[in-house]
Amino acid sequence: MDVALNHPLKPDSNPVDPKQVQDPAQVADATRLAAQRELAQSFSTLQELVAAARRSLSQATWDMLSGGSDSEATLRRNRMALDSLALRQRVLVDVRNLDTTTTLLGKSLPLPVFIAPIGNFLQYADPRGAAAVACAAVSKQLPCFISTAARPGIEAVAKAVDQPLIFQLYVRGDRQWVGDILDRAKAAGYDALCVTVDRAYYSRRERDMINRHLVREGGGDASHQASITWDDVLWMKQRMGVPLILKGIATAEDARLAVEHAVDVVYVSNHGGRQLDHAQASIEVLPEVAEAVDGRAEVLMDGGILRGTDIVKAVALGARAVGIGKLHGWALAAAGEPGVVRMIELLELEIRSALGLMGVTSLRELGPHSVRAATPVSTGSVTSAYPMYEAALRDGEGRP
Ligand SMILES: Cc1cc2nc3c(=O)[nH]c(=O)nc-3n(C[C@H](O)[C@H](O)[C@H](O)COP(=O)(O)O)c2cc1C
Repeated sequence: MDVALNHPLKPDSNPVDPKQVQDPAQVADATRLAAQRELAQSFSTLQELVAAARRSLSQATWDMLSGGSDSEATLRRNRMALDSLALRQRVLVDVRNLDTTTTLLGKSLPLPVFIAPIGNFLQYADPRGAAAVACAAVSKQLPCFISTAARPGIEAVAKAVDQPLIFQLYVRGDRQWVGDILDRAKAAGYDALCVTVDRAYYSRRERDMINRHLVREGGGDASHQASITWDDVLWMKQRMGVPLILKGIATAEDARLAVEHAVDVVYVSNHGGRQLDHAQASIEVLPEVAEAVDGRAEVLMDGGILRGTDIVKAVALGARAVGIGKLHGWALAAAGEPGVVRMIELLELEIRSALGLMGVTSLRELGPHSVRAATPVSTGSVTSAYPMYEAALRDGEGRP
């Protein structure tokens, strides 16, 4: 595995032909990538991609990626809240041309989508780990958050792509430790800092506990995370000298405080249901945060996003862009970097189809008027957006 990581391949847009390389490690990488590319292109739906991920992962590894904390109420609520919103459509609008672009911190994005940080799981899904995900995101011009816990390390991931990434910090030491890692991220070219603030304590991931498969993300001494306060995040921003994103905001009160503390981006998240159990769904929190921020910062959101329609709902309720967590882990497990590229392509197709059918020609036309509360269509399981996949699993392949 380490050998492969020493040879990070460039983005999928510039594929390596296995016949053209000599180094055995590179031949193995290129051969795997060619097979992954063929497999990825065979997926015409996200359901197929998730089914392929399920087949490629052991139960314990699937659970590590897909599970939540304690009773998994937050995890299920994220999905149930999305599944309880209906889209309002208008007709007889000329929708031949659709504008799906947005901006984040002054950069133009072709889609309102970004890759959320996923700690050290990714190396279990593909030997290139976070480097493969970053290459896929950059090839599609989408922002990519890289976790403190990412493997290979933050420098190796930055080196694998030729564009700046966003560094996500877990505090695993004192101010000296934090200063050092922020300096390393700056030197490696990361151009924004994301501090995750919904992880003062490790949660109890009961699937992992029952599987005896506990992997703690971030290394170092996790107790330092419990000590950080608003003054610390301001210091971190000044130390690194880049825009600051605060990840894990879940109330209007904290959104207002974030704005008062010079936070550039307020990121609504409940860690995909992996931290506080019985928390509110991200999509439920989003309107109050957007209202509290009132344009004084940019607003991002993640939590349960598995479909283009989910992304449209989140943009309608105030998110500038929407984070993909578990789904990109599944995409990587299914078919490596090309799997993540394919995931982005399929999400784009779904976004375009939803906008066109809603009579919306630009994301700027979306607003709270675009959605309404409706009868829930599911009980909110982790993969409830993929009913055919779930039905196949019920017929005997294991638990979702
Ligand atoms: C396996 C896994 C590892 C994660 N690691 C991190 C991490 O290192 N840092 C972080 O801020 N969030 C982490 N998250 C949370 C994600 O960034 C994101 O908030 C969440 O996955 C979004 O919900 P979704 O998975 O339903 O899309 C992780 C999530 C998963 C599933």
